[in-house]
Amino acid sequence: MATTMQRAEAAEHAMSEELDRVVVKSVLFTSGERDPRVPVPRPPDQGKLYQMGHDSRLPEMPDKPTLFDFFRYRFGPSAHMLQSARLAQKNGVSEKIVLACLLHDIAIAGFIRCDHGYWSAQLLEPYVDEEVSWAIRYHQTLRFFADDSVGYKYPEMYVKLFGADYQPEPHIQAAYRYARDHKWYMSSRLITVNDLYSFDPNAKVELEEFTDVVGRNFKQPKEGLGFDPSPSAHMWRTINWPTRYL
Ligand SMILES: [Fe+2]
Ligand SMILES: [Fe+2]
Repeated sequence: MATTMQRAEAAEHAMSEELDRVVVKSVLFTSGERDPRVPVPRPPDQGKLYQMGHDSRLPEMPDKPTLFDFFRYRFGPSAHMLQSARLAQKNGVSEKIVLACLLHDIAIAGFIRCDHGYWSAQLLEPYVDEEVSWAIRYHQTLRFFADDSVGYKYPEMYVKLFGADYQPEPHIQAAYRYARDHKWYMSSRLITVNDLYSFDPNAKVELEEFTDVVGRNFKQPKEGLGFDPSPSAHMWRTINWPTRYL
């Protein structure tokens, strides 16, 4: 009898046979669901070429993709970030912090969840003010620690998600101590203050509301995100073409 794993792999093979290119998944996409030490199963290639560009199962991105194109074509629902940015605006923070709120979880929306503050910051670093990416990097850590001075409490949601006895690991504690004493602590803290889920369930926020904020504070490369020479361009290319063989 076929195991769940075998069935899943068979379905995957069937799917990639419909594609004109052979797709081999990155280890990270399946690690845990399968043992990463075992070689990744290859679909029968039958003389087909391997995936080296656009994946026909995904919407095609423009040749010179912008930040908003990534929101439109590659990110999952971004209402949470849009709502955070709107709340930040309502709370009268600086435009830099509005931008930070708008982008703070982009790694969750389109890249890698684990350590999302760090991945988000690295994606953005070459294109935004240093304070913005710094604030985004540390918001992940600061979310675990209350700050009464701004009325930020440990999230109820985290108790539900991680259990009442979850304690941030030593590396997170160390990152917190570092961030707490940093000159930009409050910038990062302000992300956590505005990091609310459905503060107004009826608020429908459109990306276009932030066209000017992004235009003034995000250095969109002329070659398109991913095709520029920045140190994180490869990360944007990977989001654009997540199944490229190499
Ligand atoms: Fe976050
Ligand atoms: Fe968030």
